[in-house]
Amino acid sequence: MIIIKTPEEIEKMRKAGVILAKTHLKLREEIKSGITTDEIDRIAEEFIRANGATPEQKGYMGYPYATCTSVNDEICHGFPKKDVVLKDGDLVTVDMVVNLDGYLADSAWSYIIGEGSKETNELYETTKKCLYESIKEAVIGNRIGDIGRVIQNIAEEKGYSVVREFVGHGIGRNIHEDPQVLHYATRIRGPRIMEGMVFTIEPMINVGDWKSKLDDNGWTARTVDGSLSCQFEHTLAITKDGPVILTEQDSI
Ligand code: MF3
Ligand code: CO
Repeated sequence: MIIIKTPEEIEKMRKAGVILAKTHLKLREEIKSGITTDEIDRIAEEFIRANGATPEQKGYMGYPYATCTSVNDEICHGFPKKDVVLKDGDLVTVDMVVNLDGYLADSAWSYIIGEGSKETNELYETTKKCLYESIKEAVIGNRIGDIGRVIQNIAEEKGYSVVREFVGHGIGRNIHEDPQVLHYATRIRGPRIMEGMVFTIEPMINVGDWKSKLDDNGWTARTVDGSLSCQFEHTLAITKDGPVILTEQDSI
């Protein structure tokens, strides 16, 4: 069941989204060669709490940390660790959910340490393009499935692949609500996009094959072929005037 949000509820989610966007801006300054993913997690958690909010992922279905920090071939749900020291050329995705007064916002951003190789930079730019081009499809009258078609076209044109096992989702007072937002095309176009829907788009794009395997920790997914994986995610609200990104960094 898709839970439609009132303008007041969307406003509350936007406030959570602003804190989340500011957390990413803070990380953008802090993430550099020599930082550990555990330090990233601590900076994010402290910043979220200092803003009167809480990190919703911590304790969600037993997930132990405030953030997911996924490095290089890790697709998502990477555990922050004291012994994972980031070095020049690495690619890390930081994914967080902020809870402000019971309303949530969810956003992941990838960061390149130092310069990054040509391969890393191209994957980064293409994944970002997949997110922003697909957001344009999130308009009343389109269907949820139209989003994935755009993502898949952009990614596969570059020779990349789209991860299948993890999808975008409705969000509100819970992290995962209906609908599921696939990042690839299927024969099913899915539900119509309607005013008051709030959902994430969060494409995970691999340089190689889309297949993933799970680490022994039961959470962290990584590419089977060891290839690089990148992700960007926003939470958006559907309005009569089009999609509104609730977690945008550049608008604050
Ligand atoms: N933020 C994640 C998403 O985009 C949710 C991760 S749940 C966690 O769907 F428990 F792994 F944190
Ligand atoms: Co997320």
